[in-house]
Amino acid sequence: MQLFTKWSVFVIFILSATVTTMYIYSTEVLKKNIASKFRSLRRISSSKKQLTNIIPNTSSNRTYILFWGHPWSVPTEGFLEGNMGGCTGTYDRSKLPVAGAVVFHYTNLDRETTPWKHYRDPEQIFVFYSRESPSYVIHGDHRHAMTEFDNHFINWTMTYRTDSDVFAPYFQSKVMNKIIEEGRKWIDNKLAKKKKVALWVVSNCALLRGSKMRMKYTDALVEAGLPVDRFGRCFNNKNEFEKLSADDVEAYKFYLAFENAQYCKDYMTEKFWYNAIGAGRVPVVWGPSKKDVEKLAPTGSFIHTDDFKSPADLAKYLLYLDSNDTAYREYFKWVENPDEKTLELAKTYVLTGSHRLCKMMLSNRERKSLPSVSEFFYNETTNCTSSKEDAIK
Ligand SMILES: *[C@@H]1O[C@H](CO)[C@@H](O)[C@H](O)[C@H]1NC(C)=O
Ligand SMILES: *[C@@H]1O[C@H](CO)[C@@H](O)[C@H](O)[C@H]1NC(C)=O
Ligand SMILES: *[C@@H]1O[C@H](CO)[C@@H](O)[C@H](O)[C@H]1NC(C)=O
Ligand SMILES: *[C@@H]1O[C@H](CO)[C@@H](O)[C@H](O)[C@H]1NC(C)=O
Ligand SMILES: *[C@@H]1O[C@H](CO)[C@@H](O)[C@H](O)[C@H]1NC(C)=O
Ligand SMILES: *[C@@H]1O[C@H](CO)[C@@H](O)[C@H](O)[C@H]1NC(C)=O
Repeated sequence: MQLFTKWSVFVIFILSATVTTMYIYSTEVLKKNIASKFRSLRRISSSKKQLTNIIPNTSSNRTYILFWGHPWSVPTEGFLEGNMGGCTGTYDRSKLPVAGAVVFHYTNLDRETTPWKHYRDPEQIFVFYSRESPSYVIHGDHRHAMTEFDNHFINWTMTYRTDSDVFAPYFQSKVMNKIIEEGRKWIDNKLAKKKKVALWVVSNCALLRGSKMRMKYTDALVEAGLPVDRFGRCFNNKNEFEKLSADDVEAYKFYLAFENAQYCKDYMTEKFWYNAIGAGRVPVVWGPSKKDVEKLAPTGSFIHTDDFKSPADLAKYLLYLDSNDTAYREYFKWVENPDEKTLELAKTYVLTGSHRLCKMMLSNRERKSLPSVSEFFYNETTNCTSSKEDAIK
């Protein structure tokens, strides 16, 4: 009997100690978590309230295109404000009630600050926008943003992909038209300055599968004896590049237009258009499929790595072109003698993404929304979205 009493006292002691510890824990530790949960709930509900109070202005002309934010919140990135083909671009969120379209770069999609599902003016077009490839997005901080905004939140897509609702390429045909207008003179002028072989400027060295693969590929070109002048953050000589004179930079025959992702649909950037084509250097392409480049670039204007069994074979070919001016010049045929496809392309690139959006917005009489924007964007080849490197032959 006495033994039992002793034990029960002990058990009661243990029980009360446990309860006290749990109490202290819950008040001291959980309190913090709960408080922060409440705080974020309050934030969400206050931004909800703000948006619920907005009354769409249906009597206005709806010529505003509201950019919900700058890509990566960097003020120098993204569209300029002001007139864009009959519309006015703005970053002023107070224009939400009168905007005809609201553009969300994927880095600006976040649950708390984006007009959420309860604010919806059916006349207003919500546009998903991305400058980056799915490879970059899916392996980055914003990868979840899109899935949260699936289910008919987005009306239109706007990317460099030709199957977007609004095609927003990295290129403008005024550059191409000017080149074609000058024709032979432009080529002669450019070719007279050519003294060096290949140029590559790169800043993203190993972030993605594609960045590692292109680095390996370039190493192999150099090993095979191709003179490639390499600049940028990856080679710790960004300043040296900036110090080169205009003549130095114009002296290169080839530019390695190597993207950071392989076989992502239509993913061709300023590397191809401005660093190569616009500058009078023949682009050597790695990244987009040859089929995509053929569709989007002037006929005969580029060299694709897929056409070569190995980097060494490509190096050999580029060295041959370096030694044969006639053969090299053939890559500029599209300038003096553009074929129909090339002229057609120049027309395609007349409108920039924002002008095209404006035009479509002003004339739109239909309704459309995307069941899943993430399915649209991530519906890609494994090569594009994989993080695994394939060995380079
Ligand atoms: C709606 O827009 C028109 C034209 O921009 C403006 O004159 C009018 O005051 C606006 N109405 C409201 C309720 O904001
Ligand atoms: C609407 O647009 C037309 C044509 O651009 C213009 O003449 C008119 O003044 C605009 N109306 C309002 C309310 O802004
Ligand atoms: C140089 O290129 C032209 C045009 O492709 C070709 O006809 C010629 O045979 C080449 N010359 C040499 C020496 O390879
Ligand atoms: C835009 O999407 C919303 C939500 O799905 C829909 O209610 C609205 O009709 C769409 N508007 C247009 C102009 O397509
Ligand atoms: C995904 O891609 C395939 C092949 O390109 C295509 O047939 C299909 O329609 C695409 N699905 C979506 C949702 O875009
Ligand atoms: C990537 O593309 C190559 C063709 O160049 C193919 O052999 C390979 O299987 C692809 N890899 C993946 C992961 O899809």
